[in-house]
Amino acid sequence: MKLCIALDLPTLEENISLAKSLKDFDIWLKVGFRSFIRDGKKIISELKEINPKFKIFLDLKLYDIPNTMADAASEISELEIDMFNIHISSGVQAMKGVMQRISNKKDRPLVLGVSVLTSFDNKCFKEIYSSTIDKKSILFAKKAYECKLDGVVCSAYESKIIKDGTKPSFLTLTPGIRPFGEDGNDQKRVANLDIAKENSVDFIVIGRPIYQSSDPRYTVQKILKRI
Ligand code: C5P
Repeated sequence: MKLCIALDLPTLEENISLAKSLKDFDIWLKVGFRSFIRDGKKIISELKEINPKFKIFLDLKLYDIPNTMADAASEISELEIDMFNIHISSGVQAMKGVMQRISNKKDRPLVLGVSVLTSFDNKCFKEIYSSTIDKKSILFAKKAYECKLDGVVCSAYESKIIKDGTKPSFLTLTPGIRPFGEDGNDQKRVANLDIAKENSVDFIVIGRPIYQSSDPRYTVQKILKRI
């Protein structure tokens, strides 16, 4: 299991200083909406300068018409990043289009499909999708698998079921991790490290429990020892 830390701090300087303090760890860093909209490609090059071995997950959750998604994926794959994601609900044509467009690029980044956001509980989910999370997430994951994506973003509770329904090497990345039972904040389906392990999760994404802790470096050390 790999640890991916969400760089969701309010300024570039704070994100960079967090990354510097974690320079010697074997970790993934997640650059999401907030950081990428504000800092663009600069944050990626600065992170790679700190440690070229840092792996970067660009979490922009693309959702648009197939042609626009394929164009965006093509641009993204030119960046110095190792993984990005698209919404599975953007459709089969869009997913296939993205994979076709980047498949013959050298060292292409991994592509994950977002299944059901971990901030949904069944009630809020039903309001939009008229279905339950369990049913939809496995259906979404199978579609992503058929379209040859590398894996999915899901909650820790769905990881094992998704692997059983696709194949064990189909990657799962799970946000909503509260390693030592911290506050869930806006996340509804939170899980701790044991649940993530039991469900064969490949990547855990952790933001606030690390960057809001009094000693992020120590928290990361504690997590890495357990995974
Ligand atoms: O602070 P916290 O650990 O809740 O951060 C989770 C991170 O993972 C946030 O950056 C959030 O945008 C992201 N994320 C998520 N749920 C998804 C995909 C990404 O929470 N399905």
